[in-house]
Amino acid sequence: MVLNEELVEGVRLELEIERIVHGGLGLGHVDGFVVMTPFAAPGDLLSVVVVKRRRRYALAEPLAVLRASPWRQEPQCPWFTQCGGCNLGHLAIERQRQVKAELLASELGLPPIELKAGAALRYRNKGSFHVGEDGRLGFYRRGSNELVALDHCLLLHPGLEELLPWLERLVAALKLPVRQVIVQLGHPTTLRFVTLVLASWPGSVPETAAALIGEAEQQGVFTFLHQADKPHRLGQCVFAGTPKNLQVRLCGNDLEVGNAGFFQVNHEIAEHLARDVRAVFEAGPRERVLELYAGMGALTLTLAPVVSHVYAVELVRQATLLGESNAEKLGLCNVTFRTGKCLTIVQRLWRQRFSAETLLVDPPRRGLEPGLIDALEGFRFRRVVYVSCSLPTLKRDLTLFGKQGFRLTQLKAYDMFPQTYHFEMLAVLER
Ligand SMILES: C[S@@+](CC[C@H](N)C(=O)[O-])C[C@H]1O[C@@H](n2cnc3c(N)ncnc32)[C@H](O)[C@@H]1O
Repeated sequence: MVLNEELVEGVRLELEIERIVHGGLGLGHVDGFVVMTPFAAPGDLLSVVVVKRRRRYALAEPLAVLRASPWRQEPQCPWFTQCGGCNLGHLAIERQRQVKAELLASELGLPPIELKAGAALRYRNKGSFHVGEDGRLGFYRRGSNELVALDHCLLLHPGLEELLPWLERLVAALKLPVRQVIVQLGHPTTLRFVTLVLASWPGSVPETAAALIGEAEQQGVFTFLHQADKPHRLGQCVFAGTPKNLQVRLCGNDLEVGNAGFFQVNHEIAEHLARDVRAVFEAGPRERVLELYAGMGALTLTLAPVVSHVYAVELVRQATLLGESNAEKLGLCNVTFRTGKCLTIVQRLWRQRFSAETLLVDPPRRGLEPGLIDALEGFRFRRVVYVSCSLPTLKRDLTLFGKQGFRLTQLKAYDMFPQTYHFEMLAVLER
């Protein structure tokens, strides 16, 4: 038997998996010490090798399944475990959802709730590929910047996957340093966007590439070239074929969506989420709402008809501009969009004696920015509606709101990202 102090890098051991924890990692104990490993299922007996030792746990990589859990299924994707995208493909979809429900319940100390769910595969309306030296498209290998070239992805909507061979032809014809390729699909229309992020821009598109772009437009595929400014950030648009917006229908509203800015990647589940958010507001009297992290207003415009006013704050200018034009198109006069950092705008609103009954937030994975919950204290909101895609940061922020007297009164969860450990939550807090 391996002892706790022997659990150092390179040591091989047998690990019995007890449960799945955040990050999709299987957790077991060796001599009372926590060891976690990816691609595991509760009940597995695995041969693993320790790759990292920390003060309170060790991380290991699986080498072989010695005894398989009944929760296992044969992964449907040939790149599973190589590509860094999915981490639960070895579990049947019902088990993936059970894992998420149990994790949510144990972290928040509540009885398990069922996740609202839809398609297990082919649900993504957006995909982002890296481009290899040879012009092949792919995703990064797990934990590295090495490319795994692939010709299909089971998470992508077929209308996006079918673009891959054309995209590789376009990348070759452009003869430009393309770093990243992003594809997006409207709903329920079949219009598609292709955004190529370039390391540099010589100022023109070669003729063969322009012909490919023109032909694709006939099929409803619109191309944008952006010059990268920072890694993982879309820089300035340097070329757009025919200017066009995608249409996305959400709760009966047809919204115009640009190629920059956030929109939920799973239309089917985004619809459930937006309906549930609206239902929270429909139930009571018409209120004033302060909405933080509003994006292009997907939730703002859904709930505007059932509240008295929504003041929506968002960092990305293109997103707030779209929010304003969509509001105008829908004839909604009771929304105000402000561009800027939430903390800065909240501090300004405090000086202006702004008031609202409910706070609605939908932050990125890192949760509410430091200092924001303190800055919100003086507003004396009656209620907080928190949409979250990260359980650790939701838990952290619920504790901070708890110190201001808020208690969780409603919780819903959504399998927005099947095959991965991520999921979406809607929490309502009241005081
Ligand atoms: C999870 S998205 C939610 C968007 C919107 N609620 C929706 O459903 O489409 C988070 C949004 O927060 C914005 N954001 C990130 N950090 C921000 C900050 N410090 N201040 C304001 N907005 C921010 C992002 O640009 C993004 O649009």
